[in-house]
Amino acid sequence: MKHLVIIGFMGSGKSAFSSVLAHRFSMPLISTDQIIEEQVRMPISEIFKTFGEEFFRLQESQVFRKVSQLRDPHIIDCGGGFGINQEVQELGRVIFLDLEFDEIVQRMNEEERKKRPLFSSFSKAKELFIQRRQIYEKKSTIILKRIDKNSLLQIQELLK
Ligand code: S3P
Repeated sequence: MKHLVIIGFMGSGKSAFSSVLAHRFSMPLISTDQIIEEQVRMPISEIFKTFGEEFFRLQESQVFRKVSQLRDPHIIDCGGGFGINQEVQELGRVIFLDLEFDEIVQRMNEEERKKRPLFSSFSKAKELFIQRRQIYEKKSTIILKRIDKNSLLQIQELLK
């Protein structure tokens, strides 16, 4: 199976990069968060508020099962926890966007933070970042510290 699975911490640019890849390689794009929002018919922040994190994680497990059944290669834009809790490496080639925590903070404005319940406190988000980094690393096929022309070439190789 040759899905390209994009993982990394909240705010590391997974969605924007996934769109670029979908366009560049003419592959269909799916977002695990978007599927959950459609399933529950609520934005992620409301899902956390109304039903709590555990419920959200159960939705992620359901999405994993659905995605595992896709036959055609897709670009899979994963929520930050999806890359941690699911065996994403079973879905295809895994690309980890490995930004530094400070870079992530710089990229995120107030509005972007509000969408992410687990980013409501910087210190808690940083703790989570530290806990997760090695797990993302272990599951990844390639690690990208930045996105440039070379990254697209590296990814092209993964599709061969
Ligand atoms: C989460 C990341 C979010 C979203 C939810 C939980 C996480 O996605 O799935 O708020 O646990 O890291 P992004 O990584 O796209 O922000």
